[in-house]
Amino acid sequence: MSEAFAGMHALVTGASSGIGRAIALELASGGAGVWLVARHAEALEATAAAARRAGGHACGQPLDVGNDEDLERLRDRLAKESHGLDILVHGAGTHFLGAVADAPIAQFDQQYRVNVRGPYLLTQLLLPLLRQRRGQIVFVNSTVGLQARAGIGAYAASKHALRAVADALREEVNPDGIRVLSVYPGRTATPQQAAIHVEEGTPYRPERLLQPADVAAAVVHALTMDRTAEITDLRVRPMQKA
Ligand SMILES: NC(=O)c1ccc[n+]([C@@H]2O[C@H](COP(=O)([O-])OP(=O)(O)OC[C@H]3O[C@@H](n4cnc5c(N)ncnc54)[C@H](OP(=O)(O)O)[C@@H]3O)[C@@H](O)[C@H]2O)c1
Repeated sequence: MSEAFAGMHALVTGASSGIGRAIALELASGGAGVWLVARHAEALEATAAAARRAGGHACGQPLDVGNDEDLERLRDRLAKESHGLDILVHGAGTHFLGAVADAPIAQFDQQYRVNVRGPYLLTQLLLPLLRQRRGQIVFVNSTVGLQARAGIGAYAASKHALRAVADALREEVNPDGIRVLSVYPGRTATPQQAAIHVEEGTPYRPERLLQPADVAAAVVHALTMDRTAEITDLRVRPMQKA
């Protein structure tokens, strides 16, 4: 496992925290060079330092995945400084609770922009680099991307849309040797989940939830499968009910 990603280059969005950070560190510890993306430079640099300690090369690029110009600048930098991309992980995501009846429409727009439109555009921009390396693309989805529930309609809609993007893309790029994985975690112990518990008014007991490293281990398993196989969808959930 420790050399599974040697010589590879990966880009991970949402790499400063939670699930994205855990995936980035797993890739780095397997020998990958990692490009790390999120908005806050300081948190990103902390992940980069941890990735270097884990044995990989790491470079942070602060940007907003909802900003088209930011994504185009990232593509330009990668095109100049890399020789293709082996792995693209869409880990950045945003989340608001609220009933369809009265959740602010601006929150719907924000979740669409960050959870769907950003990954869609970034994939378009980086596909030429991924084609050079028969790359792999990972979409961090959610169990509510499979089954919506009350109080979370806009977020669930964004994740349903993300699943559709991944499914269509898979059919389009499999002939080029590119694999596409959607991972659907249940409640995972991250800052996003801690905030959800505050909003829901329920006690936060992270030890009873999935851990970011659990999700990262599942993703790494799918990425390292022989090329005779493709895992398309991975549902991961906590063993215990919170
Ligand atoms: N935690 C769960 O229970 C759970 C369950 C299922 C699915 N998910 C999904 O897993 C993914 C990761 O969530 P998480 O729980 O790990 O949350 P998290 O710890 O809050 O991390 C979210 C990451 O996304 C980045 N991010 C947010 N908005 C961004 C933007 N506009 N541009 C660039 N980066 C942005 C954040 O960094 P900055 O704030 O610095 O930008 C951070 O690195 C999300 O797609 C989430 O929907 C989470």
